Amino acid sequence: MFLSGFRPQWVAMTDLALETDGLSKTYRSLRARVRALEPLDLKVECGHVFGLLGSNGAGKSTFVKTVLNICKPTTGRARILGIDSRNPAARQHVGYLPEGTQFPRYLTGRGVCQYFGKLMGLKGKALKDEVDRKLEIVGMTQWADKKVIKYSKGMKQRVGLAQAMLGEPKLIILDEPTDGVDPQGRHEIRDVIKELAKEGVTIFINSHLLAEVEAVCDSIGIMYRGRMLRSGPVTEITEEMSIRDGRMQLRIRTGELPDSLPREFEEAIRRDHGLEVSVENREEIPGLIDVLRGAGIKIYGVEQYHASLEEAFLRVMHDGEHRGVGGQQ
Ligand SMILES: Nc1ncnc2c1ncn2[C@@H]1O[C@H](COP(=O)(O)OP(=O)(O)OP(=O)(O)O)[C@@H](O)[C@H]1O
Ligand SMILES: [Mg+2]
Repeated sequence: MFLSGFRPQWVAMTDLALETDGLSKTYRSLRARVRALEPLDLKVECGHVFGLLGSNGAGKSTFVKTVLNICKPTTGRARILGIDSRNPAARQHVGYLPEGTQFPRYLTGRGVCQYFGKLMGLKGKALKDEVDRKLEIVGMTQWADKKVIKYSKGMKQRVGLAQAMLGEPKLIILDEPTDGVDPQGRHEIRDVIKELAKEGVTIFINSHLLAEVEAVCDSIGIMYRGRMLRSGPVTEITEEMSIRDGRMQLRIRTGELPDSLPREFEEAIRRDHGLEVSVENREEIPGLIDVLRGAGIKIYGVEQYHASLEEAFLRVMHDGEHRGVGGQQ
């Protein structure tokens, strides 16, 4: 079935798994108007793992729902695997785990997956094998025949993940996939995501868990009040944040420090086991070490400071707040 005005496009030639062009969403009711998503252009390449970060209410879930045409965009358009997202064919190769997903409580985990598998057109042995395989990947084989009502939040998430992986999708969109999952389960889900990425599946994750995103994502976007403040490769963003006012930050591990330091270190910050200094470029490093050694200070190590994704995220958000981004809603 195709919406009128669209032609089937089973094979679209594109390197982009997801592309938006001025996509925006304003929720309207009789009483209120919420600008949840400002016009947004975003490209996610095939085979990448992309993480969308942002605080509560930033617009992450609205973004994925609008991309998938579950929410009608207010302006702009989205393409999934090269196909306009208004065309149902665009969703044919997409697996989706919605936020806070709820399944009928009278179904078993296996029943849930079979239901979604049947909707995809799977049947007979192919359906059974596919459901068994995906339940095993998410570690739910043992619980597969228990009713959803008996599941913990983490178990429901795992079944939701199995459901999103049914039928070998090319793009998997996961909205808070580890919500309610215990640390071991989170680790396992991270491994599943890495495995899928190795097989060339594109993955789009909405998450609050920065360490997790840093461990699995190639690229990220940081949203704040419906706007994308920053997007790009994780390493590019963290490296950029590691440099302050155009200067490299160094951490020098030293032995005991005297009360007064050589004048080259007047601006240095004393840390537990050493000093933090900023330099114009790496050529300054040997000279600084000579000065410290000349003052009788032992040096055990020199390393360039690298911001974690968490630090980078907080700085981008802080800058966004200071610029008064998205003040009116
Ligand atoms: N159906 C809706 N009707 C009206 N407003 C909505 C609706 N859904 C979301 N919103 C509002 O849109 C904004 C963005 O919400 P959204 O759920 O997209 O944020 P989020 O980044 O996914 O947050 P979280 O991290 O809490 O999941 C919020 O201000 C929210 O209150
Ligand atoms: Mg959300």
